[in-house]
Amino acid sequence: MCGIVGYSGGRSAASILLNGLKRLEYRGYDSAGIALGGPDGVCIHKREGKVAGLVEQLGDYENRPEIQRAHSGIAHTRWATHGPPTTANAHPHAGGSGEVVLVHNGIIENHSSLRAKLQADGYQFVSETDTEVLSHLIARELLETESLVDAVRLALTQVVGTFGICCMCAAEPDVLVVARRGSPIVIGLAEGETIVASDASAIISHTRQVIYLDDDDVARIEHGSVDISSLDARPVTRETADIDWSSDAVEKGGYAHYMLKEIHDQPEAIRNAIRGRLDATRGTAVLAGLNLEPRDLVDLQRVVFVGCGTSLNAGLVGEYAVEDFAAMLAEVEQAAEFRYRNPIVSSTDLLLAISQSGETADTLAAVREAAEKGACVAGLVNVVGSTIAREAGRGIYLHAGPEISVASTKAFTCQVAVLLMVALKMGRSRRMSREAGIQIVKEIQRVPELVERVVATSDAIAMVAQHFTECQHMFYIGRGYMYPVALEGALKIKEISYVHAEGYHAAELKHGPIALLEKGTPVVAVLCEGPGKDKVLGNVAECQARGAVVVGLITEGDEESRDICDHVIEVPKSPHYTATITATVALQLFAYHVARLRDCPIDQPRNLAKSVTVE
Ligand code: AGP
Repeated sequence: MCGIVGYSGGRSAASILLNGLKRLEYRGYDSAGIALGGPDGVCIHKREGKVAGLVEQLGDYENRPEIQRAHSGIAHTRWATHGPPTTANAHPHAGGSGEVVLVHNGIIENHSSLRAKLQADGYQFVSETDTEVLSHLIARELLETESLVDAVRLALTQVVGTFGICCMCAAEPDVLVVARRGSPIVIGLAEGETIVASDASAIISHTRQVIYLDDDDVARIEHGSVDISSLDARPVTRETADIDWSSDAVEKGGYAHYMLKEIHDQPEAIRNAIRGRLDATRGTAVLAGLNLEPRDLVDLQRVVFVGCGTSLNAGLVGEYAVEDFAAMLAEVEQAAEFRYRNPIVSSTDLLLAISQSGETADTLAAVREAAEKGACVAGLVNVVGSTIAREAGRGIYLHAGPEISVASTKAFTCQVAVLLMVALKMGRSRRMSREAGIQIVKEIQRVPELVERVVATSDAIAMVAQHFTECQHMFYIGRGYMYPVALEGALKIKEISYVHAEGYHAAELKHGPIALLEKGTPVVAVLCEGPGKDKVLGNVAECQARGAVVVGLITEGDEESRDICDHVIEVPKSPHYTATITATVALQLFAYHVARLRDCPIDQPRNLAKSVTVE
């Protein structure tokens, strides 16, 4: 998820673009760049690091005539997906010999094949990004059409994937061409000028009159004129909207907290995590970044997952899935324990380090220790180019987009989605049949839509949450795949609402914790249809016999559980391995609403940091 800003009008573009980027830095901040168009042509300035570094590089730009003369331009703050955060990979990217300049938000799935064709045509690449491919594609089409908007349309018809783009060219320096498919583009309308951006927070200080492009819309902008068309050049009319949000609310997409925004981001984030990675014909996963062929996988005897916190809970789902799909040895280790225990690992082990930030000190140390002992090490990381990603040397990026809120939500569900694909790939390298693999592919492909259905029940979940805003202790219980869900649900409510909550394997209650139950103690029981559900129902009865108030997380239509529990939260029917995602989303919302009703500082809980880079 990157930040894009564009301007065409009568004013100097530089300060409009740079101030717009600052508003968008929450969307991505590993590199930034600007291209300015004017009588001197189009000039690019870009560098690794935050927008402040770019401003420093431009120096006293308000007194530099060559910069002030530029009345159009595009700018970008990057969240890396392809290629680490370096100056070469920063946007804008130039196409051809520099006659086209482009910024992009999204993922071009067929970038490799397009790159090969362009290289065969003599185009020289200077970055590792998918975006540069599109720059050269547009430049090549421009040779034929001599109109930037036509060149963009022709290029985009060759692209598979998602894009939100803004581009310009030396021959038409006052013209911007924008287009979108899956990544938002907002056009701000003002007298004699136009500002475009990936979200309205960069626009509302200039105008609140906006147009939101739809998928496959293309717009040609020149000063105050905006002409919208389809990819096949048919004129398109889009309604103008008035934005009445505060700028702070706009950054959160209108949500009260980043956490709520990121919970609602999950359907799209999971689509990005699985995009291009499931093969429905062969019934397997395509995980190129693992750099492990089936013949390599069959030599592996065990998978070891390491992580901390939420990532550790995701690893527990991974352990269950690898055993379930591949009938293979698997285990999950708390990273700090692993690193100091002189672990027994060898070259027949695959160590998967799970980390949203890619910077967690204990997980990084576990990677180094496992590598020292000859294990095959890979990273499951969200931040491209992070230390764990680089030191692991191989792995799978989550493509979840920046996760701002300290409480991890979309990273967890994307981690689980990727782990299910890893388990599927391991299974298909062993005894899993193609038919069984195809069924699992279908179930994983259903997850974004199932998560949309869970997110749509947020208000009903809030109704349940309001019964528990005064409680000081909570139990979360589950079995099998639902056990990590219980652990993650307890962690969520603990860290954002400060309620003391513990996740237990449901069978563990009788071995001590049940002594804590008193009249009114809340117990959240994860009762999704599947193996062990009836046993958990038995545990629910034991809890209620001691006065507990039970919230059942149940599958839609499960009337038996509904009748037994004191409150219910429903999720759509799905196999246990994907119910780990839908059930967790429901518990994220439950935790969020309890914390909101307790008026807690949800996005920055006390004592916590987003990334624990120290021991
Ligand atoms: C989860 O909500 C917490 N923010 C925390 O447990 C986090 O998952 C843990 O610190 C690991 O972080 P990482 O995924 O960036 O390695």
